[in-house]
Amino acid sequence: MTSASHIHSAADARRLAKRRLPWMVFDYIDGAAGSEVGADRARAALDAVTLQPKILRDVSVRDTSVSLFGKTTAMPFGIAPMGMCNLSGPGADLMLARLAAKHSVPHGVSTVASTPMEEILEVSEGNAWFQLYFSGDGTGTFKLVERAKACGYETLVVTVDVPEVGRRPRELRHGFKMPFKIGPKQFVDFALHPRWSLTSLFAGKPQMANFLMDGYEFDRTESRAKATWDTLKQLRDMWPGNLVVKGVLDVEDAVRLKAEGVDAIQVSSHGARQLESAPAPIAVLPEIRAAVGDDFPLFFDSGLRSGEDVLKALYSGADFAFFGRSLQFAIAAGGEAGLAQLWDVFTDELSIGMAQTGITDVRQLYKA
Ligand code: FNR
Repeated sequence: MTSASHIHSAADARRLAKRRLPWMVFDYIDGAAGSEVGADRARAALDAVTLQPKILRDVSVRDTSVSLFGKTTAMPFGIAPMGMCNLSGPGADLMLARLAAKHSVPHGVSTVASTPMEEILEVSEGNAWFQLYFSGDGTGTFKLVERAKACGYETLVVTVDVPEVGRRPRELRHGFKMPFKIGPKQFVDFALHPRWSLTSLFAGKPQMANFLMDGYEFDRTESRAKATWDTLKQLRDMWPGNLVVKGVLDVEDAVRLKAEGVDAIQVSSHGARQLESAPAPIAVLPEIRAAVGDDFPLFFDSGLRSGEDVLKALYSGADFAFFGRSLQFAIAAGGEAGLAQLWDVFTDELSIGMAQTGITDVRQLYKA
């Protein structure tokens, strides 16, 4: 049996990944801010949401597709932007891009992706969305926006919940840095995880690929704190495509974003990697939905670990959801086959959950 066939849940993928990945890489992906109470709070709030079983409704034919910025996706969930995905396995970014192409779902391409944005867009067959971090005084940021526009991105996701990178003690303890340095501590860690080291390091140390071209520089630790509502206005003016703002947990902010003309809002706590004391995203989602109205596109991520979790997000007001670290764990656990397997698990869980809650059409469940 291959590792992929051992994945029957997100927890399976995480458990297998934990065995394969160097501690430094596992903790970079798995870790959360502070003492990780925020991650626990987000999980507990998701666990506390229940779905109401409904019976005898002929749910034999179920449609999981939704319409997103004029395109039809096969399922109501996609791939959240994550930096340095190739740390989970060589070629991870392109595995995610192929998955996005296969199911016509969005693939968030991080500013700090480990593969150039142009290549991911091509392999995703146009399903990639470019995720932007505002950084420093904005000079490099605006260049990246122009580059994303020039190469054909239609959707820009501006992540606003990282005015400073959150303190994640698990990362700090391992001395995790990008680009990472291999000191004695890391050497031992890599030596004890030879399967990862032999494939990942020999494939070439993962890099922040969008910054390897002349004229683009990025420092992961550079302050992103200078971004303001004026910055958003500038971005709105220079970006003719869809503009999504990711990392919103406040009702007033959401209402203002809508008024500023953004095309969608992503309710997210960055997977609990930023403000440890932030509210559980699933708890604020219904309030934000009520404030922006039924027809405004609202996306959700953070802490989702199953298709039923996606249903909970949809019932709570989201139009679309995104998975993050679980997908990287699936890659670490079983490569591209592992990723496909976990995706099928999520799809199955969603579809079975629809049947059990008496739903045949996943669209706009919050209005049901
Ligand atoms: C992230 N996330 C993230 N978000 C973003 O906008 N730009 C980025 O570069 C990254 N990088 C990143 C790296 C890693 C390793 C993780 C785990 C997450 C946050 C991501 O988009 C998403 O909000 C969360 O991952 C969703 O939570 P779950 O599903 O991981 O719990």
